[in-house]
Amino acid sequence: FQDEAVDKSIFKDCNKIGFYRRQKLLPRKNTYRTLLNSLTSGKDSTKFQIINEVNKVPFLAEVCEIEGNIFRFKINEMAPLKPRYEVSDVLIQKPVTKRLTQCSGDTGTLVLKDDSGHLKFCITANPFKIDLFSEEKPLLSMSQLYFEHLQKLPKHRPSTESEEDVSTDPYQESQDDLGLWKETFGKFVDIKANGPSSIGLDFSLHGFEHLYGIPQHAETHQLKNTGDAEAYRLYNLDVYGYKLHDKLGIYGSIPYLLAHKIDRTVGIFWLNASETLVEINTQPTVEHKLSPKGSVLAKQKVRAQTDVRWMSESGIIDVFLLMGPTPAAVFKQYSILTGTQALPPLFSLGYHQCRWNYDDEQDVKAVDAGFDDHDIPYDVIWLDIEHTEGKRYFTWDKKKFPNPKRMQELIKSKKRKVVVISDPHIKVDPMYSLYSQAKDKGYFVKNSKGGDFEGICWPGASSYLDFTNPKVREWYSGLLAFSEYQGSTDILFVWNDMNEPSVFRGPEQTMEKNAIHYGNWEHRDLHNIYGFYQQMATAEGLIQRSKGEERPFVLTRSFFAGSQKYGAVWTGDNVSEWGYLKISIPMLLTLSVTGIPFCGADVGGFVGDPEPELLVRWYQAGAYQPFFRGHATMNTKRREPWLFGEEYTKLIREAIKERYGLLPFWYSLFYHAHVASEPVMRPLWVEFPKELETFGVEDEYMLGSALLIHPVTEPKVTMVDVFLPGSEEVWYDFRTFVRWEGARSLKVPITLDRIPVFQGGSVVPMKTAVGRSTGWMTHLPYELRVALDTKGSSRGELYLDDGHSFQYLHQKQFLHRKFSFCDGVLSSSCADENGHYHSECIVEKVLILGINKQPSSVTASSSDGTEKQVAFTYFSKTAVLHLENLSLNVVADWEIHVK
Ligand code: NOJ
Repeated sequence: FQDEAVDKSIFKDCNKIGFYRRQKLLPRKNTYRTLLNSLTSGKDSTKFQIINEVNKVPFLAEVCEIEGNIFRFKINEMAPLKPRYEVSDVLIQKPVTKRLTQCSGDTGTLVLKDDSGHLKFCITANPFKIDLFSEEKPLLSMSQLYFEHLQKLPKHRPSTESEEDVSTDPYQESQDDLGLWKETFGKFVDIKANGPSSIGLDFSLHGFEHLYGIPQHAETHQLKNTGDAEAYRLYNLDVYGYKLHDKLGIYGSIPYLLAHKIDRTVGIFWLNASETLVEINTQPTVEHKLSPKGSVLAKQKVRAQTDVRWMSESGIIDVFLLMGPTPAAVFKQYSILTGTQALPPLFSLGYHQCRWNYDDEQDVKAVDAGFDDHDIPYDVIWLDIEHTEGKRYFTWDKKKFPNPKRMQELIKSKKRKVVVISDPHIKVDPMYSLYSQAKDKGYFVKNSKGGDFEGICWPGASSYLDFTNPKVREWYSGLLAFSEYQGSTDILFVWNDMNEPSVFRGPEQTMEKNAIHYGNWEHRDLHNIYGFYQQMATAEGLIQRSKGEERPFVLTRSFFAGSQKYGAVWTGDNVSEWGYLKISIPMLLTLSVTGIPFCGADVGGFVGDPEPELLVRWYQAGAYQPFFRGHATMNTKRREPWLFGEEYTKLIREAIKERYGLLPFWYSLFYHAHVASEPVMRPLWVEFPKELETFGVEDEYMLGSALLIHPVTEPKVTMVDVFLPGSEEVWYDFRTFVRWEGARSLKVPITLDRIPVFQGGSVVPMKTAVGRSTGWMTHLPYELRVALDTKGSSRGELYLDDGHSFQYLHQKQFLHRKFSFCDGVLSSSCADENGHYHSECIVEKVLILGINKQPSSVTASSSDGTEKQVAFTYFSKTAVLHLENLSLNVVADWEIHVK
């Protein structure tokens, strides 16, 4: 079936989507009126009615403030023919709401204000419109509502399929297929039992012209104007070798965008799991010259505005407005709703070696040994679908993997892990116990006729587990128990793939929209959240198999808002071409700002054979991206790091070792993402929100607020243009320590052995050496890279725990240290008194960058009163001070005085 995964001609462009045609082509009359006198204020929210003047269908609107500076706005039919789908399991808790108070407005309007009185909702009656003011300035407006109500199939439906409501429109009459009751795409026919059900709402963001978010697309980080061309599509699809710069939805969807301007960041989270389209239209700030008055040419500035239209095929309007005002505040607000990144086990921040497929136990052993023989660290070896008995997940091919436990014991003895794949399709085979169990229990998604849905995937005819059913999830989680999953051990972790879901020969390679899920919901209603539920069940299963003790690791291809709680995401089937290396940066930045910090792209490119130069550049980039995995499809040449000659092996080794050297820094960043909702990989605008020049930067990014990374994404490069942001920043070349002032562009000469990495004023914790895997590095000493800022000071943090269990959470077994350099004193102190963790580890080495003169003495004093001289070397040319053989406990408070 491999060829069937490759056909790209099977996807729709927007004009082939019925609800898009309806919302676009029908004349846009705002026929909705707010019934202001229907307004009631309850404890949790304010409610009012809206009516569609054309057909008199009434709607119920609800607005409330959620603690944390968030507003929620919901619209549903007052009395739908049957309930409309509302997304559950994404919000981590019932939001704590605050009451809005009503204050007077002009006739025909009504004003609600928040507690502080800074924010005001102004509701206009006719036509319906809501304007949101912050400090009396317009921030955001919502207008142009579109809401198709559920209907019974009319008895005498006109053959043109026109809906009564709109049939008087001449334009509509010329449309013979608006996909109202039936929508055809190629050979596929989608019958809609209750007719059209789409919703839409327009937003205007006043003063904003920079928008980001709504993954996943192979597109730039900054969202583009869609104009009248393709809208951004959010529809989880399996698109092998996806096209670059395309608005087609791939693999996962997060219906959430951020808008940013110099003094404000806001977010719009559109909580809907059906197919969604987003149009963006920006009118930038313009200056008009007015006719001369006297001798002076008067100028008038017209503020920028961005209009965003959200359209979804079904469900309700449920939108969260995240009011910022800073990028960090918006990240926090989004995490109040959907949760933060699960703290990954430390091993998963190391390097992962994957291939479709490592053929058998021998192969696994040889690849594993290859890493040791070539002195290249790695943490995880991955097994793709061929490890199973005929693509029956949770089984092993007996010939290739006769003794999976023995194999895992070997890998475990190397302090490494194994990840195996588990897809949501289950081979139709009554002899396969997973199939027969699920069938008997009624755990598969149903077709529109009520039988089990069957589609084609890797195993041939397959049925699909209905992960939207909590019972199915519970059962699936149980399959991961050691007693159930034969041949599994505690170093085995899981990869969920093909969970869009991918259905070969299905419409757009996925499931029919009228397939039926638990609760009688149509697939149409929840398509985008299907994969989310599989990862949720898998993560839960891994936790349960360890009796709640161990942190899980689950990689998923499909995702939705909130998937960060369950593990990592990667960008699917990219190609071994330079363009795909380049686009990995904006794609990962977009995931990062929409709540998915743990993300990565297949290193080397999945499809095709990378030339060695590309492979090296990809390793160098991947080493500085959150999820770091090499992967390749079937029929590609083998490409383990040592297969291209010693010159290239050395370069790849160095790249991977750089990653391992920075593990303490990575782990600390993930802890931050976990507790403080901050992305690990950050676009420059997040760190420099007041600097306009950063808003469009896509070829470089920050790790935390310390490192600036500029991967090389073109062949034969000898010079790279690096932008160093921040008029008050200094930047140190991470390798040469050369110091540069910020707010400038720099031409950096480049060779194949490096990519530009700079450290801003910060303390970065590292290890002085690397081991064969993260597991071998626990006791290795630390090095601190202290880079002084313009004021000669510097700050940083270190997070530390056992690296694998939940004890950091339940027993507070962790260490959170902070380092600061100020007035010649570097101090290490506790950043969180709640945490306790014992470690014999020492800080052995400190490098202070940007010290202008040779010190006369350096002493170290510990909290127990001991003081000793520290041997140091000063390099005047680079202004770097090396302190070595320090032996300061990483757990203890201490100070180093540089005089
Ligand atoms: C598609 C995935 O994207 C790819 O990574 C994997 O190797 C194949 N499925 C086979 O499982």
